[in-house]
Amino acid sequence: MLCLRFAMLRGDGAGHPAAMKKGDSLSGTPTDVLARAASDLPLPPGGALAFAPVGDAAAVELPEPIRRCAQRRQATFAAGRIAAQEALCKAGFRGAAALGIGDDGLPDWPPGWLGSISHSDDTAAALVAPVGCARLLGLDLERIVTAEIAVQIAPEIMPGQPVGHSGLLLEHEVTCAFSAKEALYKALYPLTRQFRDFSAAHIGWQKDGAAAPVRVMLTLTEDWGAGWATGTVFEALQRTAAGHVATILWR
Ligand SMILES: CC(C)(COP(=O)(O)OP(=O)(O)OC[C@H]1O[C@@H](n2cnc3c(N)ncnc32)[C@H](O)[C@@H]1OP(=O)(O)O)[C@@H](O)C(=O)NCCC(=O)NCCS
Repeated sequence: MLCLRFAMLRGDGAGHPAAMKKGDSLSGTPTDVLARAASDLPLPPGGALAFAPVGDAAAVELPEPIRRCAQRRQATFAAGRIAAQEALCKAGFRGAAALGIGDDGLPDWPPGWLGSISHSDDTAAALVAPVGCARLLGLDLERIVTAEIAVQIAPEIMPGQPVGHSGLLLEHEVTCAFSAKEALYKALYPLTRQFRDFSAAHIGWQKDGAAAPVRVMLTLTEDWGAGWATGTVFEALQRTAAGHVATILWR
């Protein structure tokens, strides 16, 4: 329910100043712009990241539960699977993987592979790596929320944390925090199989120098299970482009 509420609240951040960074090219589709912006993200060894536009679901053979969903859901599911196939291919997987739906709605990755899928209304992405090169990985794409929505959701996304400590515009800061926490949850869930709400991690904004971009650190505020204890710190690696924040997190 929480997610449905946030999905309804998510604004259209296209054209938002936080959507652009130095070196961003405005040419190409939002998917192209995002893919270019994310191309320098440090990936797990042997891993790959791929993007796909949300378009026609006909390109993918949809599993039965998805065939019963609305067209929009079919299209985002299909785009996520296309991105996943491309990421696996880039990473050197040579099998024919039609990725089904596994336990708890997780994608059914081929044996020996870890992955994460995310989609917004116009773009999907997938991050993959061979098992053994990463223990966990998570990916999240979020449209930048409006300033009004940022004010509303900040207390739920960063409970007990004051806003305005990142140096970013509020709407960008809240979207970065939200996306970082979603990526963290998606990375850890396959290991822990436990739900955690937004109070289960603390956001820290770090700057290595006055001109350096802000780094987003996450500290677990409770024991998440499967050995991931209170105090464990992760870095959320982020890029902002085409009205989105893209986050990857891996170890
Ligand atoms: C599961 C959840 C993270 C998905 O995030 P979202 O922004 O709504 O959706 P995204 O597009 O990013 O990701 C959806 C994809 O994630 C994958 N997925 C679904 N459930 C998942 C889970 N529990 N763990 C990891 N990946 C999951 C699927 O591949 C899904 O796409 P598909 O159904 O088309 O294959 C979100 O719905 C949720 O429950 N969040 C609350 C928990 C949370 O974030 N807590 C914060 C802790 S600090």
